[in-house]
Amino acid sequence: MNTVSDKVKSYYRYHALIYDATRWLFLFNRKKAIEKLSIQPSDTVLDFGCGTGLNFKYIMQRSKNLTGIDFSNDMLDKAKKKFPGVRLVETDIVSGKIGITADKIICTYALSLIDDYENAVINMKNHLRSSGMLVLLDFSKLYGALKFAYPLLDWWLKHHKVNAEIPYEKILKKYFRNVNVETFHSGYNVIATASYPLE
Ligand SMILES: C[S@@+](CC[C@H](N)C(=O)[O-])C[C@H]1O[C@@H](n2cnc3c(N)ncnc32)[C@H](O)[C@@H]1O
Repeated sequence: MNTVSDKVKSYYRYHALIYDATRWLFLFNRKKAIEKLSIQPSDTVLDFGCGTGLNFKYIMQRSKNLTGIDFSNDMLDKAKKKFPGVRLVETDIVSGKIGITADKIICTYALSLIDDYENAVINMKNHLRSSGMLVLLDFSKLYGALKFAYPLLDWWLKHHKVNAEIPYEKILKKYFRNVNVETFHSGYNVIATASYPLE
């Protein structure tokens, strides 16, 4: 059966080969998103949808207690070669049980690839301590000066199986006490910060 997950995995089988060489061109703001987490040296950190581990070096400057999660073994193989000391778990963001309760969770440019993004948020929330924080970085909808370019960007994002219209604030407010959603570059990017998970 060729499910959406199969298609995404198959896409990353090939894109794993060129991922690190190409993504700096259009995946912005990862450092800014990691700074929002205020990671402390003692923090346990989970990177959901970690891919080839492009966040790892910035996270590990702050805490070494890091686990990367992804369902693409091709992407994880790249991460493993670059960061042999990082624990990696091959599983689905929506349903995977990591067996770790984290202080901080990051998910960059992965939620937008998941049809069932609400259950992905719930699963990540269920891996957080009561004082924990989740940061999401992804694409969103262009506005203002760049609004005219949205149909083209939307076409390009859909071609790459990306949903840039997730209602971050609405979803996160259902599951977290404190939520802050900021957009950057006329909406090209969104960083959503959610802390104090609700029961
Ligand atoms: C665009 S890449 C982002 C990788 C990394 N977070 C980054 O910022 O460079 C998306 C990653 O999410 C992973 N992914 C997508 N849907 C997933 C799911 N349901 N469960 C686990 N991983 C998933 C893909 O395999 C891919 O490695």
